Amino acid sequence: MIVLGIETSCDETAAAVVTAGREILADEVLSQLEAHRPYGGVVPEIAARSHLENVDGLVARAMDDAGLEFTDLDAVAATGGPGLIGGVMVGVTCAKAIALVHGLPFVAVNHLEGHALTVRLTDGLDFPYLLLLVSGGHCQLLIAEDIGQYQRLGTTIDDALGEAYDKVAKMLGLGFPGGPEVERLAENGNPGRFSLPRPLKGRPGCDFSFSGLKTAVRHAVDALPPGPLTATDIADMCAAFQAAAGDVLVDRCSHALEVFEDRCGRPGPLVVAGGVAANRALRARLTELTGDRGTRLVAPPQHLCTDNAVMIAWAGAERLRRGLTDPLDFAPRPRWPLDPDAPLAAGAGIKA
Ligand code: KG4
Ligand code: ZN
Repeated sequence: MIVLGIETSCDETAAAVVTAGREILADEVLSQLEAHRPYGGVVPEIAARSHLENVDGLVARAMDDAGLEFTDLDAVAATGGPGLIGGVMVGVTCAKAIALVHGLPFVAVNHLEGHALTVRLTDGLDFPYLLLLVSGGHCQLLIAEDIGQYQRLGTTIDDALGEAYDKVAKMLGLGFPGGPEVERLAENGNPGRFSLPRPLKGRPGCDFSFSGLKTAVRHAVDALPPGPLTATDIADMCAAFQAAAGDVLVDRCSHALEVFEDRCGRPGPLVVAGGVAANRALRARLTELTGDRGTRLVAPPQHLCTDNAVMIAWAGAERLRRGLTDPLDFAPRPRWPLDPDAPLAAGAGIKA
């Protein structure tokens, strides 16, 4: 079973081909970072136009890399949401056109499910597992029970962690996206120089909050002597922020692991997915936590943590295997929570 996947929900145009036998035959990603950088964030109109200009070429390249014709495919999958609607429409329309012309099934994939299922491709993981989904638009803890079946244990009540990384980076005059840069600079910083809060740490439940931490960084920066920040100031602030973020993640995941064990009868594993999962320091913290709890952390390789089409093709293959295809009148969804029964909370927002 061979599936082409297309991802266009944010600022990466991507196309990939995978088999249900867990082989990656093609993995093409085109980042639009340079186009958005001058604005310090993703501009939806620029993103949609760029997806439109590039998606055909990327699909052609992916098919070339795989050495396949469209008629060799068993289905075409595209991110159907959540995301920036202009971009999602481009990918969905492209996938539908290929499906229509070649008589193939079409699969609309929830971008978050793409992140959630990546470890089943990379590590062959079985359900259930505890999932920490941390990206630019989401910060959630869920029990992944099956394809299309997720139980949310907690979510952010304000900012997503990737968003907090990006905003802190902006305050420190660093580039966009901020995550990788803050991680790099934190390595040489002194985390103890600034004292920052750990929102919700020690409280019951599995929700997150990062807005107070972000504001505390702003106050700490403002309290420094006037003039440009020194390299040491920046590195120390990055280290202090990352240490606080790590403490919060460990505390929240620790609660969630307890709930998971109660409900599922085994201690884990814990899976971390989404762009922030690329962060080595945070992965190390979670590895330590899971080790202490007699379980393990499973994380995709870094290039499959940030947005890509391999995860969309794979989720498409998983759905196709269950006969879960979609009609060609599927409408792109700007919002699409993984657990549709949960109340629409902050953090179930448009970015993935
Ligand atoms: O899942 P993703 O690629 O895209 C969406 O959010 O749609 O996640 C991107 C987010 C950005 O906020 C970025 O700053 C963050 O993931 N990120 C990181 C790292 N790499 C990417 N955050 C912390 N450390 C990193 N190494
Ligand atoms: Zn994403």
